[in-house]
Parts: sequence; C-alpha cells; structure tokens
Amino acid sequence: MQQHHTFSLERRRFLISSAIVGAVTALASNPIMASIGNSAKIDKLIKRMTLEEKAGQLHLEPVLSTMMADSDFAKQNPWMPPTTLEKTLAAMDVQLENVRKGNIGMLTTPMDLDSLINAQTVAVNESRLGIPLMFGADLIHGFRTVFPVPIAEAASFEPEIARRTARAVAIEGSAAGHDMTYAPMVDIARDQRWGRVVEGAGEDVLLGSLFAAARVRGFQGDKRGASDSMLACVKHFAAYGAAESGLDYAGSPITERMLHEVYLPPFQAAFDAGAILTMASFNTIDGVPASGNKHLLTTILRDKMGFKGAVMSDYESERELVAHGFASDNRDAARLALSAGCDIGMVSGIFPKYLPDLVRSGELDEALVDQAVRRVLYVKQEAGLFDDPFIRLNKARNNAPLPKAHRELARESAVKSIVLLKNDNALLPLPKSGKKIALIGPFGADTKNLNGAWSPFSAETPSVPVDVAFRMVLQDPNLLKVVAGSDIEAPIVGGIEAAVAAAKAADVVVLALGESEKMTGESTSRTEITLPPAQVALAEAVAATGKPVVVLLRNGRALALEGAVRDASSIVLTWYLGTEMGNAVADVVFGDVSPAGRLPMSFPIASGQQPYYYARENSGRPALNGSTGMFKSHFTGIPDEALYSFGHGLTYGKVSYAETRCSVDKVAKNGQITVSAQVSNSGNRAIEEVVQLYIHDQTASVVQPRRKLVDFRKVKLAAGETLNVSFTLGADKLSFIGQDTKPVLESGLFDVWVAPSATAGEGSSFALI
Ligand code: BGC
Repeated sequence: MQQHHTFSLERRRFLISSAIVGAVTALASNPIMASIGNSAKIDKLIKRMTLEEKAGQLHLEPVLSTMMADSDFAKQNPWMPPTTLEKTLAAMDVQLENVRKGNIGMLTTPMDLDSLINAQTVAVNESRLGIPLMFGADLIHGFRTVFPVPIAEAASFEPEIARRTARAVAIEGSAAGHDMTYAPMVDIARDQRWGRVVEGAGEDVLLGSLFAAARVRGFQGDKRGASDSMLACVKHFAAYGAAESGLDYAGSPITERMLHEVYLPPFQAAFDAGAILTMASFNTIDGVPASGNKHLLTTILRDKMGFKGAVMSDYESERELVAHGFASDNRDAARLALSAGCDIGMVSGIFPKYLPDLVRSGELDEALVDQAVRRVLYVKQEAGLFDDPFIRLNKARNNAPLPKAHRELARESAVKSIVLLKNDNALLPLPKSGKKIALIGPFGADTKNLNGAWSPFSAETPSVPVDVAFRMVLQDPNLLKVVAGSDIEAPIVGGIEAAVAAAKAADVVVLALGESEKMTGESTSRTEITLPPAQVALAEAVAATGKPVVVLLRNGRALALEGAVRDASSIVLTWYLGTEMGNAVADVVFGDVSPAGRLPMSFPIASGQQPYYYARENSGRPALNGSTGMFKSHFTGIPDEALYSFGHGLTYGKVSYAETRCSVDKVAKNGQITVSAQVSNSGNRAIEEVVQLYIHDQTASVVQPRRKLVDFRKVKLAAGETLNVSFTLGADKLSFIGQDTKPVLESGLFDVWVAPSATAGEGSSFALI
C-alpha cells in the first residue's frame, strides 16, 4: 500500500512511466503469461486462485485517472466520484491496491491511456498471479471520429457500412487501450417512446440481425485477439427493447414465444458472427429480472443458443435484483445473479464483497464461481491479453493521426443514412446558385447536437454543422440567411418574427427541426413523440408565408409529425450523423448524392399508436384500407396505419415496381421458389433503390404478421434503366416460431411482395405443399 496520497501530479506521472518500463521487462519472465493458452491451462490457473482472486476476476469498475480531477467531464457527470486531484489520487491508490490484490478483473471507461498502462503494469507485475486486466467502454458509434447513430446507419439498409464503421471505431478505440466495447446494442425496439431506439437497428428482426452480425464483425475484425480488434459485448440480453409502454427500465411483459421470434435472433446472429461477451439487461421478462434469470442466462443462452463466452451485468443490474424485489439483500443478489449465469458484475462490487463468503458458508457451490472465472479468463485469452497484456496499450499508436479514410467513411455512412420521406413537386434537390435560402430552426447553426448519444470521446474532432456546410456548397454564400427562430424546447423572444421575415425574403425555406441529443438515448422515454411545441409554432408561422418548405429532421426515434411539419413539401430525415453531419446533409439537399436510406422503423400518425410496427399480427377485426369505422381495430379517428411505414424512402429518381411474379404456383417444403419484379427508374439520374421482399403466411398455427421482411437488396439503377430483381425463397424464410418456441414450417398459402416498403407493392401468392 502506498503511504502518500498527496504526491504532485508530476511525481505521479513519473511513477506511472517508470512502472511501464518495469512492466515490459517483467513480462517476458512471467511464467503464467507464457503458459496460458488452452482451457487445461486456464483450469490449472483457477486451481491456484484464492476465492478472493476468483471473485476479483468477476468484478468490473470504472478506472480512475488524474484526468478526472476538476475535469469538465467530471463536472458534467455528477455520478463521477472524486473531483479534486487529492481525492482522485487517494482513490487511485485504493484502486491500484485492489488490482495488486487481484480484487479487480476489468476496468471501464478510461479517460487516458496512462492510467490503463499503470493499472495493467500493477496487475501483471505486482499481483500474485499476474493475470492481466481487461479494459472496456461504450464505443457505440464512434470514438474520435463519430459515425451516424446506430438507428441512422440501419437506414442505409447496408450492413456492410455498419461493419466498416465498427471496424474504424475498433481501430481508433483499440489504439486508446480498449479491449472491448459494450456494443452493438441489438435490442429490437417497437415502441418509439423508448429513448434507446436510437442505439439499435429499429423494429425489424431481419434488419436487426444483419446489422448485429455486421457490427460484431467490424469491431472484432478478422481475429478477436488482434491489436486493432475490440471484443463486442452484445447487449442487452434480453428483450430490453420490449419495456412496457417504452418506459426505460420497466419490465418486458412478453411471452417466451415472442422472445424467440423477435428478440433473440439478433443476439444469435451476433454470437454466430463471433461475439463472446453479452450484457444482461435491466428489465424483467415475464416477472423475472434478466440479470438473475437462470432460464434466460443458462437454459436459453447457453444450452439453446450455444453461447460460450461470458455474461456481464448492466451497470449494477445484478445488485438491482434487490430493488426489483427478487433478492432480499445484496448478498442474496450476488448469489442469485451468479447462479443464474451472470458472470461479471459491472460496478456494484457485490461479487468481490460476497462471493467468497457465500462459498465458505456453503450457500454457493464453488464450481459455479470457477465456471464464471473460466469464462472470464477465456474471454481475456481470446482478446489476446495472455499473449501480450499491453497489446492495446501503445502510446505511439494512440498518438498517431487519425486515418484520413475514417473521415471519408464518416461522410459516406452519413449520406447513406439519410432518408427522404417526402418530396412534393421535386422541390429537392435545391440548386447551388440563384435561389435565396432561409435556413430556419434551432438546428440550422447548431453545433451541440450533431453526434448523438454515446459520443463523449470525440471532442477533439469537431463535427460539421449544417449552416457551415451549406455555405461551403453555395456559389454565393450570401444567398443563405440563417435564423434560429426558436430554441429546441422553448420559444425565443422575437424568434418567430425574425424567422418569418427571413422566410418572406427567401425563395425557399429549409427548416431544421428535431430533438436534442438529450431527448434520446438512455433514460429519455417520452410520452409524446412529437416535436416540442415551440418548434411546431415556428413551423406554422413559416409555412404561413406560403414559401416552399424543406424540413430537415434531426431525431433519434420515429416522430409523430404534425401540422406544417407533416405538410411541408419535402421532409428529410437526418438523424445525428456525427463528424461529417453538415456535409452529408448538404450532399443530399443540393443533389450531389441521391438519397437511398429507408426507414428502419415506422413513423406513426399519432403518439398514441405506440407501439406501432409494420409486422403486426392480423386482428380478427382489421380496419382495412384506412377505415375508421366502429368495431374495427383502430384508435378513434385514426386509421390503423403508419404515416410513413418501415422500408419507406424516396430517391431523386422516378422509381416504379411492376407486379410481383412467382416462378411456380406451388413449392415443396424442401424446395425453392424465385420471386421477382421489374423495377424501373424513369427519372433522369442514377439512383440506388432498396428492393424489399415481404411475405405473409395466410393461415398458420400462430397468427402471422401482416407482412414480414425476409430479404432485401440495394440495387443501382441508371436513368431510364429497368432491372429484373429476383429473390430465392426457401424453408429458412418461410418458417416461424411455433407455440412450442421452436421453428416450424407449415404448408399453406403465402402472399409475397417485391416492394419499395412494408405497405407498398403489388403482391402475388403461392402454395407451400
Ligand atoms: C447502459 C449500458 C452501458 C452501461 C455502461 C448502462 O447504463 O444500459 O448500455 O453499456 O451503462 O456504460
């Protein structure tokens, strides 16, 4: 234990760097490092561990750093413990002593590389067994370069773009010492009141599964243990997105069949792509908290899904078994969580505190602790840490300039994420000269809401605001007038007057509206998914000038658009696009690129329709064709429809679909059918079109969705080109999860559509025999 807590910062930094030199020399002679390599050797190591050392491996806590002292980050995050240098240094001493004793297995959310090198040096050189620490953080959609928020990227309908951005995040994040990232979030989200919709890939199972796998492949690269790979911790297992009424941390009252049909497939896809970490979710499922749910974490996850890695809790979720009323106290919670299959406790510290005693008193079988430790050591081994504990702790790599390609990828992915919802009279694209443009709204010149939730590490790479990008593109930047008109959530004095004056003086208005970053993400559930009233009032006043209006929406969930916003000539969904946001928006608005994004979730007509998603089951009393008549299933006065359905998105071409054709009328269960349609672009520019394949199983032992996406393809269409786009359908796409929670393939009639969205297209049908 170090005696002095009041070293100067310089002295501490000196000590840290001397320790690093020591570590590198010591490494070569550490016998455990050299011998680890297969499970027999891991077992041998476990035999040498004390109960305390075992429990320590199962504990993850925030890494302390002198950077925390008096930092802006600490001030903005009241949960962050010490804020003075003296207190920070004292706490660091305690943490390092715990590392030395083997009481900590993993550290999270580093602020600097030095603190990681320092901690790893202590772990490897000074702890009894020299087991390396593992480091992680939430590197969700960017590290230094920020890419579009995950929901935006899903709108690209191009999983490969997600793989590439995740790869870039891993390259940047691993250079700063991260061995793992708490990503991807693969929760299917069908209730847009839930703020965390922004972190996932939306409402659809197929799209969600493809993006889950792509992101895992991107984070982990070709080899999990490579120096520029980060292990993916897939979250939140499971059904976190099914929270009742979209209320964050509420229970998920779903059936086991729905769990298998909707919520588990993206996890399976992520595991199949090589993920060996997953995070247990905060919610209950049918009354049992996920983090203490043995059926979920062992029977389903391991026995059924074949998961071989380790499960970590979500920020104290294992301790929260007490608040749920599932465990009687923290000790009980530690026992229940570990026995259920939750291997690592995030932050709470109840594993190191109670597990040794629980074993000694006979309340917990030591074999269960060993099993969790084995999984953790396996994960560390796969991360390459036993071969080289300093594999991602490389200052030269961390200080190297960012690859130029990352910035280009930020722009490419941002452009691909943009969805053109509406474009009456081909108002877009706007010309780059000759027209006076009024850029009105709180997001026109905004610099604080470009990146979205989960981008706290990017400060050194300022993102491009929309007004700056517009000025760069316009031949005469003086033709652009920028007026806020309103704050995001409150009016500003004289704002509307200034906006109306600017609109009147312009040829066209671009209205930049939306939600602030803080209105989306964790713990930001909303009852009304509408734009704040101040912005709606601004839009009404501007629309009353009669000038043509383009709305740019910045948001992280589907919104129920109202009044002048809904009725604007053009609506462009621009999300939070990250480092290259402004440039990407300008690329689309001024027509350098034709938009190709598609909605990964339905935009409802009204908030009260939530949860609204396209793959709803048939009602016994369906309100067909927009009917709002009595005794049919709809909310009073509103058709049972979306304003913009899943899959919708326009381009600058003129696309039409001919009728869907099936290669045969009947197909055997072990056979295949080809389904196709001619897709034409009669417009005058080249575009990309997302051609989607939907099915509906007309009669089944479990009522089937009205439509289900089973395939899609992004195709290029030159001006005037017609393509025959065909898909192959077989058993894998026609089966569903039966009443017994197992996949089943039933014969009968199927409707099928090759279509531009979940509600468009002219279908056909065939029989499965
Ligand atoms: C979130 C997780 C996140 C964790 C660590 C939790 O509150 O639910 O998604 O990975 O914090 O930051």
